[in-house]
Amino acid sequence: MSLLIINIKELLQIRPEGVHYVSGSEMSQLPSIENAYLHLNDDTIIDFGPMGDLDEWNADEVIDAKNKYVLPTWCDSHTHIVYSGHRDGEFVDRINGLSYEEIANRGGGILNSAKRLQETSEQDLYEQSIKRIKEVMTMGTGAIEIKSGYGLTKDAEIKMLRVIKRIKDAFPIKVRATFLGAHALPLSYKNNKDGYLDLVINEMLPEIAKNRLANYIDVFCEKGYFSLEDTDRILTAGRKFDLVPKIHVNQFNAFGGVAIGVKHKALSVDHLEELNQEDIEALKDSNTMPVALPSCSYFLSIPYTPARRIIDAGLPLAIASDYNPGSTPSGNMNFVVSTACIKLKMTPEEAINAATLNGAYAMGISSTYGSITKGKKANVLITNEIPSIGYLPYAFGDNHIDTVIINGEIIK
Ligand code: NIG
Ligand code: FE
Repeated sequence: MSLLIINIKELLQIRPEGVHYVSGSEMSQLPSIENAYLHLNDDTIIDFGPMGDLDEWNADEVIDAKNKYVLPTWCDSHTHIVYSGHRDGEFVDRINGLSYEEIANRGGGILNSAKRLQETSEQDLYEQSIKRIKEVMTMGTGAIEIKSGYGLTKDAEIKMLRVIKRIKDAFPIKVRATFLGAHALPLSYKNNKDGYLDLVINEMLPEIAKNRLANYIDVFCEKGYFSLEDTDRILTAGRKFDLVPKIHVNQFNAFGGVAIGVKHKALSVDHLEELNQEDIEALKDSNTMPVALPSCSYFLSIPYTPARRIIDAGLPLAIASDYNPGSTPSGNMNFVVSTACIKLKMTPEEAINAATLNGAYAMGISSTYGSITKGKKANVLITNEIPSIGYLPYAFGDNHIDTVIINGEIIK
């Protein structure tokens, strides 16, 4: 089916083929065409340009986007969207004064979600998860990375990854899967961390790789979770199975995790709420994308990733939701873009680059997603009638998305 969008107020994020991410001062540019058309054929962008260049129309369906902006759908490169139940009790505990760390030390946190997930059937887990998938698609997310890490046993980790695969097969949204066996130490291994690492490396990893259940490998590299040495061991093992690292680092403490990621050619290093100059230096001359998760900082009341220091050092930056039951129970990328502007002091153009093209890079798909480029996937969103593109993050509490097209399919 071919779909023609006409009279677009401004078509944003137009990139030539071969631009896989933007860095530093380039992030403030969002190349565009005013009064434009965009032609999609099945799942592909086939043409676009100024309305004046459109002589004859030949399309199965035409959408008039007068006074509306068109841009690529959001590429959410960091989520834990497959989970069971909620942690709203811990939310109230935090309001009453307990910290995220104190809750985890009482057996809450990740272990709480793992217990729940282990007791949930695969079908139930799938049904709970697809509600969230449908919800984020209508909010404009067209590509998503999903992690395991709430299983923490071989069976439960594989159950999560099988659910991710089912989502990938059943929905038009692009899905990339990450194995996060080293998310937390299960209680049964409380005094035997090496035993758990052996289980992850020798039992889980080979089985997951053999069944092609993951594209990436992740570790929660953090005090009280997994050390630099543990991270090094896991990433070394993952690379033997061609699993590229995408890791959780510097959420609460900066102690060299970024450099370990860069050493292992990580595709991305995510969180970075705590960031020192050595981390910035480690990222220079690397192909690793730093990823900020502003909704997580908002929800946990922890510092925001210093986006200005990262971008002003000439580095790229992506933003993602971190959708999960503990630190970020929201997959709303529109809120992520707003929060990046309001709290990380990114301009609307920088935030949109971070949530589209750079997000696509952080999940290894920027040759086919993340920009308006001929031959890329037909993943676009059409805004409501808004006065400027800056209005989208500015009026942060409202929904500004009128239509979402994913893989050429009108979702909303
Ligand atoms: O990215 N930091 C580690 N993992 C998740 C939160 C996990 C949880 O609290 O359930 C995150 O914030
Ligand atoms: Fe996370």
